[in-house]
Amino acid sequence: MQRRSIIFLEQMNDTMIAGVPVEYKKIKEATAELKFNMASDLYTGSLLKTLSASKPAGRFLELGTGTGLATAWILDGLDAKSSLITIENNELLIDVAKKYISDSRVEFILADGYEWLKNYKEEKFDFIFADAMPGKYDLFDEAIGLLKKGGLYIIDDMLPQPNWPLGHDKKAADFINMLEERTDLLLTKLNWSTGIIIVSKI
Ligand SMILES: C[S@@+](CC[C@H](N)C(=O)[O-])C[C@H]1O[C@@H](n2cnc3c(N)ncnc32)[C@H](O)[C@@H]1O
Repeated sequence: MQRRSIIFLEQMNDTMIAGVPVEYKKIKEATAELKFNMASDLYTGSLLKTLSASKPAGRFLELGTGTGLATAWILDGLDAKSSLITIENNELLIDVAKKYISDSRVEFILADGYEWLKNYKEEKFDFIFADAMPGKYDLFDEAIGLLKKGGLYIIDDMLPQPNWPLGHDKKAADFINMLEERTDLLLTKLNWSTGIIIVSKI
């Protein structure tokens, strides 16, 4: 009988994350000072950067800027012709992102994501990181309607998190079921980081 190898390749140690954005440390410190506990982790950031680089001259959207940790990662993956719009309704948080991220490819919008999604009528996006209620659990059809064919829609926090309110597990389960029933979407679930789902539109 063949024995399976259980050798762990050191090179596959995913805690060793390279290519961290230069702004990351300062934003992280400011995030801790504000006691903001919904920030994206390093794994998610690294994945966002890798996937962002797959859409040259792309149009990118982030819903829920927070303090800009994922914003910095996404920007690090963009080429010079790409652009990113990021939406946040909390001025204190988005001001941290604006303070530390100086990049002409990004537009920071202080707005309610519900209103913004209902009113946005311009060009569609190649990539959406949906990291707030609007565009994910709420107004999903509006958000996915803004994604081009072949575009990527990314979500994190799909594994139970300490900050989930009561009943959120059912909401998350229903949301995943809905995604899996759609015939216009392909998706891969990663039981990694905070639980990531990568969706592409066909
Ligand atoms: C999970 S956090 C985002 C984390 C951020 N993407 C990062 O990388 O650290 C969700 C964010 O959505 C924002 N948010 C919640 N409701 C919103 C709304 N209606 N419109 C816009 N932003 C909203 C919150 O203030 C919070 O900053």
